[in-house]
Amino acid sequence: MSYKVAVVGATGNVGREMLGVLAERQFPISEVVALASTRSIGTDVSFGDAILKVKALDYFDFSGLDICLMSAGAAVSKEWSPKIAAAGAIVIDNSSQWRMDREVPLVVPEVNADVLSSGIKKGIIANPNCSTVQLVVALKPLHDAATIKRVVVSTYQSVSGAGKAGMDELFRQTRAVFVADPIEKEKFTKQIAFNVIPHCDVFLDSGYTKEEWKLLVETQKILAPDIQVVATCGRVPVFIGHSEAVNVEFERPLTAERARAILRAAPGVLVIDKREDGGYITPLEAAGEDATYVSRIRKDPTVENGLSLWIVSDNLRKGAALNAVQIAESLINRKLLTSMR
Ligand SMILES: NC(=O)c1ccc[n+]([C@@H]2O[C@H](COP(=O)([O-])OP(=O)(O)OC[C@H]3O[C@@H](n4cnc5c(N)ncnc54)[C@H](OP(=O)(O)O)[C@@H]3O)[C@@H](O)[C@H]2O)c1
Repeated sequence: MSYKVAVVGATGNVGREMLGVLAERQFPISEVVALASTRSIGTDVSFGDAILKVKALDYFDFSGLDICLMSAGAAVSKEWSPKIAAAGAIVIDNSSQWRMDREVPLVVPEVNADVLSSGIKKGIIANPNCSTVQLVVALKPLHDAATIKRVVVSTYQSVSGAGKAGMDELFRQTRAVFVADPIEKEKFTKQIAFNVIPHCDVFLDSGYTKEEWKLLVETQKILAPDIQVVATCGRVPVFIGHSEAVNVEFERPLTAERARAILRAAPGVLVIDKREDGGYITPLEAAGEDATYVSRIRKDPTVENGLSLWIVSDNLRKGAALNAVQIAESLINRKLLTSMR
């Protein structure tokens, strides 16, 4: 069986990656449609060896569509996902719009694909935030082994997490520094080239940013509601790949050696942890790859049962496009694509 698939946001960072991942994984497609705003009508985007002409979301007829991979931001998703679902497609959305909706499953297939069998009432499935995806892929097997109580995470997030405009800004500012042009800031509040900005997404009344709040509530929804997560999210001058320094406190003892063995066997995880110069992963090496990489696994001696980890993944792939396509594959494998509606 093959499926008619639309990618909304096909000209964006995540949408382009979605088309690439669908082609690479030979997703069973009868027809693929690339959609974006009216600004992009007629733009060429790649789908494997083929070139697709982008069509406008506003004028597209969704009848007959099986799967819609949405990656055009929360406002577009709020307006369009219910309409597309009502037309009969399952929407897999990358924005923050539906993640905390009780009737919308929030899914990382290696971690909680089973929730798909409990129903897709609105016809919408949410993809978690990129920084949450890689965190829960690494934490799930450790949680199963020793029950996580509390997580302290500091993120080092690449500019591609802020869309193609974020990548363009890092490129322009880096060039401007070298040719002594004035530095222009549009996407980020401070210069990102040769700098670190302790700020991703908007500020909340609590003093945390929404990105930091997402790490808490999404981890609780996916892993366990009583896990405590405190986050500091930073933007770094890296094009692709988010890094996370993570301290985990467990209810029961878990040695670094056992954690390393558990993570080596975990789905979607690759351990690179040689305890020597260069024996760890960096975002440059994780870019373009599917895995969530874990390095620097060591005891945190400041709490009773603690470990420290370094977690890196390609935010456009496992953090977004790959995870969305894996959700679609999970629907097919569970025979849920038509039967759940
Ligand atoms: N980047 C990441 O690491 C990441 C990870 C997880 C989730 N996400 C989420 O994924 C979404 C897209 O992120 P991105 O990084 O791909 O952003 P992006 O590079 O800025 O791309 C945005 C896409 O949305 C389209 N779009 C904007 N307004 C539209 C409209 N009114 N109608 C139809 N299409 C519209 C754009 O089309 P035009 O080119 O025509 O404007 C473009 O294709 C966001 O919700 C983001 O939060 C991103």
